[in-house]
Amino acid sequence: KGQPESDLRTPIVCVMGHVDHGKTTLLDKIRGTTIADGEAGAITQHIGATEIPLAVITEVCGPLFRGDFQIPGLLFIDTPGHHSFTSLRSRGGSLADLAVLIVDVNEGFQPQTIESINILKRYRTPFVVAANKIDRISGWLPVEGAPLAATLKAQSERVRGDLDNRIYELVGELYKQGFNSDRYDRISDFTKNIGVVPISSISGEGVADLLMVLLGLAQKFLKENLKVRASGPGVGTILEVKEERGLGTTLDVILYDGEFRSGDTIVVGTLKEPIVTKIRALLKPRPLSEIRSEERFLPVKHVAAASGVKVSAPKIESALAGSTIRVVSEDEDVDAVAQEIRSELETARIDTENVGVIIKTDTIGSLEALVGELESKEIPIHAADVGPITRRDVIRAAAIQDPLYSAVLGFNVKILPDALTEVQKSDVPIFLSEVIYNLLENYDDWVEDQKM
Ligand code: GTP
Ligand code: MG
Repeated sequence: KGQPESDLRTPIVCVMGHVDHGKTTLLDKIRGTTIADGEAGAITQHIGATEIPLAVITEVCGPLFRGDFQIPGLLFIDTPGHHSFTSLRSRGGSLADLAVLIVDVNEGFQPQTIESINILKRYRTPFVVAANKIDRISGWLPVEGAPLAATLKAQSERVRGDLDNRIYELVGELYKQGFNSDRYDRISDFTKNIGVVPISSISGEGVADLLMVLLGLAQKFLKENLKVRASGPGVGTILEVKEERGLGTTLDVILYDGEFRSGDTIVVGTLKEPIVTKIRALLKPRPLSEIRSEERFLPVKHVAAASGVKVSAPKIESALAGSTIRVVSEDEDVDAVAQEIRSELETARIDTENVGVIIKTDTIGSLEALVGELESKEIPIHAADVGPITRRDVIRAAAIQDPLYSAVLGFNVKILPDALTEVQKSDVPIFLSEVIYNLLENYDDWVEDQKM
């Protein structure tokens, strides 16, 4: 609608990868470098996210900075690599405009690296691979904060060769996952190839290169998307439902579209009927300088996308992490918006094939992740839902004619007592795990045994 260029929304960048591969350290480094440069005030802490303005990125990139960018900056979301956070990873991944997939060059691909890639594939999110911890390569001479080209010059031929070998291992793994890739400075067309940027989150080497590649991707892939989503009724994703002392139940939300104002009517997804309520307060973390204050949060009247914000509202106890929170504007029908949000859960809660396995998970995010994994392995699903394993699930599984699909797969869920009684009667196997990868492996092993 002919909005000025400055209204481009901040792109959301999700940082993903296996546990301990360096996601949080990278964000600390970006924050730290910029704070050291005297730009601390410019960096904004959000609930669950950090916003780095374009001016700060320009500063960090120094002579590497090239081009003309209209985005206000980048909003980074950190996700946990631990296996049991599948749901948060999946939700972060579904929100992201772009992603950084971090891989420790010394460890290579690990289970949550692959899980992260599958999430990025599912949502078709453009991403860049950060090959982290290059400073751990034996013989590496760290050049604090240097761009890649400069630090490569400082390394011996043997060390450069060692780095190349590790990068080619990553390129091989990416190829197995269906992606062409190369070291980023050897790529001319980023729409056909994934860039691999060697970095150290400790020494800061290559971090400027990584930021430049991200800006380039944002400019190439996202300009049109970002433009249309700068204002209007707010839409966000609930990352977490949390009790806060003195505030009651609150929602940690990433607002990706439009605006929230206190007093706005909102619709919030649950396992059953969506909640209709009003925003009582919008809360942001206090700036770093005020960290000692008794109150951890600062009320604000208004937030605009993209932003991480804590929402306080009455009657939100049954809100479901992973579902949508949406403002209803004055000219909209509340029931129509509620219907829209209800159908989101209906879509996730698929009830498809006549013959297939039954799956139960703890949240929408993990349900989507598990459904995605099963679909990619062409394992049919008879029913998928959020919640504990019930007697009815076991009975439904027992009724499946094909013995290889007469099973229940539970991710991070409990088995209700009457379901256990039913299992003893019917012999239906139940697979439980907190790791998607293990869940699928256990099921596969069982299938192989059955075929023998
Ligand atoms: P989770 O949040 O648990 O998934 O881990 P993470 O990916 O956020 O890893 P984190 O940043 O916490 O780093 C894990 C460990 O690796 C810490 O001890 C870091 O100091 C170390 N580390 C991270 N990046 C580097 C790096 O580039 N070089 C070296 N030498 N150590 C690093
Ligand atoms: Mg971390």
